[in-house]
Amino acid sequence: MALPANFLDELRSRNPIAAVIGRSVKLARSGREHKGCCPFHGEKTPSFYVYDDHFHCFGCGEHGDVITFVMKSTGASFMEAVEELAGQAGLEVPKPSPQAAEAAARQADIAEVLEAAVATYASWLFEPQGAAALKYLRGRGLTDTTIKRFGLGWSGEGRGQLAGALRARDIGTRQLLEAGLMKQGENGPVDMFFSRVMFPIRDRRGAAISFGGRIMGDGQPKYVNGPETAVFSKRRALYNLDLARNAVRKGAKLVVVEGYMDVIALAQAGFAGAVAPLGTALTEEHLDEIWRLTPEPVICFDGDAAGQRAALKTAELALAQLAPDKSLRLLRLPEQEDPDSLIRKGGAKAFQAELDGAKPISAALYPMLAAGQPRATPEQNAAFLHRLDEVAGLIPDKTLGAEYKQHLRGLFYAERRQGREQGRAPLRAGFGGQGFGGQGFGGQGFGGRGKAPLRPVAMPPRQAPDIEKSDLLRARHMLATFFWHPALIHDLDEAFAHIVLPPGEARLRAALHDFACSAKILDRANLLAHLEALGLGGQVRDMETTLIRDEGRVFDPLESPADAIRNWWNWYNHMSDIIRILRAQHDEALRDYAARMDDAEAQERLKRYTHLLREAEAGEAGGADG
Ligand code: CTP
Ligand code: MN
Repeated sequence: MALPANFLDELRSRNPIAAVIGRSVKLARSGREHKGCCPFHGEKTPSFYVYDDHFHCFGCGEHGDVITFVMKSTGASFMEAVEELAGQAGLEVPKPSPQAAEAAARQADIAEVLEAAVATYASWLFEPQGAAALKYLRGRGLTDTTIKRFGLGWSGEGRGQLAGALRARDIGTRQLLEAGLMKQGENGPVDMFFSRVMFPIRDRRGAAISFGGRIMGDGQPKYVNGPETAVFSKRRALYNLDLARNAVRKGAKLVVVEGYMDVIALAQAGFAGAVAPLGTALTEEHLDEIWRLTPEPVICFDGDAAGQRAALKTAELALAQLAPDKSLRLLRLPEQEDPDSLIRKGGAKAFQAELDGAKPISAALYPMLAAGQPRATPEQNAAFLHRLDEVAGLIPDKTLGAEYKQHLRGLFYAERRQGREQGRAPLRAGFGGQGFGGQGFGGQGFGGRGKAPLRPVAMPPRQAPDIEKSDLLRARHMLATFFWHPALIHDLDEAFAHIVLPPGEARLRAALHDFACSAKILDRANLLAHLEALGLGGQVRDMETTLIRDEGRVFDPLESPADAIRNWWNWYNHMSDIIRILRAQHDEALRDYAARMDDAEAQERLKRYTHLLREAEAGEAGGADG
């Protein structure tokens, strides 16, 4: 008997594949994945990879999901493996009942109806009746390849078209109602979609589950989405999850945007990891789905007030589950722009620049909370402090929650101090703050005083040496800022601690941290004496001399504290995630090598990346001590 698809889904999600395999194979985390020595062929260096929903051995080619693993490793049959996993997860394997069989048949039926609709709509788009719709899509900059990749279609003009076409394939009104393609009108069932450009919505495995339909031009409603059905739930579904998932596995960044057209425009511009909720705010279920793919997705929001509110809501949802592998970055787009319009105006570069400026949630939180919060009286300040504590209190991990509380309060006091000293607008670190944060749409620089900025580099994975160099330079600027403004260390070192540094720089960072924790007076003279005593004086002098000599145009030792902070965040925001990039490159080199064992170049490349990765990981370990 066939088991219902939703039971097998449940079985798979209750038996995380890495945990099941981890019982018999020693696995180590490697970026998003786990890896170990393949249990199916003898090997000493690991080429067996475990992803969120399947395993793959680059040595012998074995491949499959958690059920396949149990079958292959124990010799069990399919049903035996299912029984075994169900037992471990405390699930009951459904008995072949008439109801279960009927439910399974109904879902299969809906799936078939939806696929028939996808094919019909798509074919109409390229017929004379779809000419205006095709022109509309091309007019919005989509190529025919993109249109076909996303299976876009035309619903037909006026009601009754789809039902008419599918009747010839023995698909009737009852089935169309169940699939969400028709709805009950005043005088009986009517088409859900007519005179609209059609966007098929697919589940994580690529099966059609519903549609969105856009009116051409300015009518209302702009989009109609299919209703909830046995296969479609808006709380869970994410547009483009199927394609994005594969892309993310190959190294694309997962970006959550607002709309269909944003996802498609991004994919066409080379950002294949974009997904969108379907006209609803992001839910807990969406976040769970996304975190299965990546520990730190980027969530994009509009620059307007509604976007800000949505960003805060999402941040609060995420905080309630915050963990090292469940975090996010927030990206606020320039006012009046969405990813689609940005790309239309400035190309992929414009979006990449925004993406590089996405802030970790720890940096984004304070400015979001501070926005529009009245703080003129002691009562208002106290209310604001309560709010900060309350938000930090959402974090389930007590230690982490306490850290956030301290961090947020620290920013509150720093802002007050800053306001008093400068007698000017308060400090706005991070997300949404004016003056910095990669708001440089189309290539204009960041705030400050017209200094030539270090541009964020677009970073296709193959340019490791350049990325490394520019990040190292950024890190040195950030360190040197503290040599001149030791009082800023307290406010910035929480964020600084997250950055991967080579051992030498990591040692300096640790020494700065110690100084800020122990010294009574945080000034340059004291700091230099402290570093001198640790034998780091020479390193400091070297660094300052080189930075001033080589980078005089961007490194200004005499800048005001406010400018120093602004520039510091700029460097921070443009740091790439060196270690993750190196891991991805290392994996790729390993795969390449596995495929062409006798190729000297592949071997050299693998050696080089193994070395680079080890260095970076050593730096990370050194940094974590400090
Ligand atoms: N949406 C919806 N119903 C509407 C309007 C919007 O479901 N009446 C959803 C759609 O999923 C849409 C998303 O909200 O993609 C974002 O809406 P909006 O920003 O208004 O549209 P865009 O995605 O920018 O679409 P376009 O560029 O085609 O105007
Ligand atoms: Mn748009």
